[in-house]
Amino acid sequence: MEYYRQTQLKDYNSFRTEALAKILCCPKSVEDLRKCLSDYPNEKKLIVGGGCNIFFTKDFDGVVICPEIRGVRKITDEEEEDEDIFIEVNASEDWDELVAYCVDKGFAGLENLSFIPGTVGAAPIQNIGAYGAEVKDVVREVVAIDMETNEVVSFSNAECEFGYRDSIFKRTNKYVIISVVFHLKRTFTYTPKYFDLNKELEDIAEPTIKDVREAVIRVRKRKLPDEKTLPNAGSFFKNPCITREHADLLIASYPDLPAYHQRDGLIKTSAAFLIDKAGFKGKRIGNIGTYPNQPLIIVNYGTSDGNEIVAFMTEVRNAVKSIFDIELEPEVRIY
Ligand code: EPU
Repeated sequence: MEYYRQTQLKDYNSFRTEALAKILCCPKSVEDLRKCLSDYPNEKKLIVGGGCNIFFTKDFDGVVICPEIRGVRKITDEEEEDEDIFIEVNASEDWDELVAYCVDKGFAGLENLSFIPGTVGAAPIQNIGAYGAEVKDVVREVVAIDMETNEVVSFSNAECEFGYRDSIFKRTNKYVIISVVFHLKRTFTYTPKYFDLNKELEDIAEPTIKDVREAVIRVRKRKLPDEKTLPNAGSFFKNPCITREHADLLIASYPDLPAYHQRDGLIKTSAAFLIDKAGFKGKRIGNIGTYPNQPLIIVNYGTSDGNEIVAFMTEVRNAVKSIFDIELEPEVRIY
């Protein structure tokens, strides 16, 4: 395993921002990863998976670790007829290749999460979600290295402390995920959960998981920019939760404000709606703008300086704050 010094990180983040890593390494095995951690006990560490939810505003004064730990292990024998299927996937496998593989085999559970960029190991960190599903619904176990002790630790679903775009891994920054065990099902019945997807499937009486995957891909291709041609990191902000009183107040002026009741009594509303109504839909300032089809996505039209993204983000946040009294919280990690 090589250590690269003063290495450009532009190809390690989908926003294509430029920054140097003091040290960069790409361990291909758990042993290499542990060696890297023990070779640099006192350096700051940053783990980058697919780099689809992160950008840089300055050089990183420490070790950037980009694991390349691949492999898939089926715990359930494919020939068996068991309803429950367990599959352990190493962290650096491509997320959508895993979804495609499971859909092809008829293993149900991941299909709504089709076409999300990134790696398998990144999925539990921010509990990726789309079309009424979240990865927490199918995670049985997450295996990680504790960067403080360099030991392997295993987390049950409950121990991952999953929340909306959140988990113990995102909050503590202390673990490197090395594999994820998924619990999938052999039988599948489509449950309508999300307007966009239901509409896409309305002509099919009993959608199969393949139909669902294809429909999700069509919706995503229509709404979301491809980071290869227009650099971005997916949803830039989380959908905010507000109190019922606050929501009632806003609905008086904006009757079509999306409002989803949460278990804790709060109301989740749509960041895209707020950004849209604040006049930022498709708006561009210099090199940065919101995507015209989905204003929750900030796109980079040509800068390599992450500070320009931060400046635009601040404009959006200030506008939403002054009109709606809501603080949008970035979903993307900013370094
Ligand atoms: N909306 C507008 N104007 C627009 C577009 C949308 O007002 O131009 C409003 C509409 O009211 C619409 C609502 O926003 O009903 C929701 O839009 P959408 O269905 O596109 O979903 P989202 O809440 O904006 C979330 C996830 C996405 C995920 C989609 C689909 C977050 C932060 N984002 O977006 O996840 O794909 O739902 O389930 O929760 C990501 O995390 O990177 C991501 C793309």
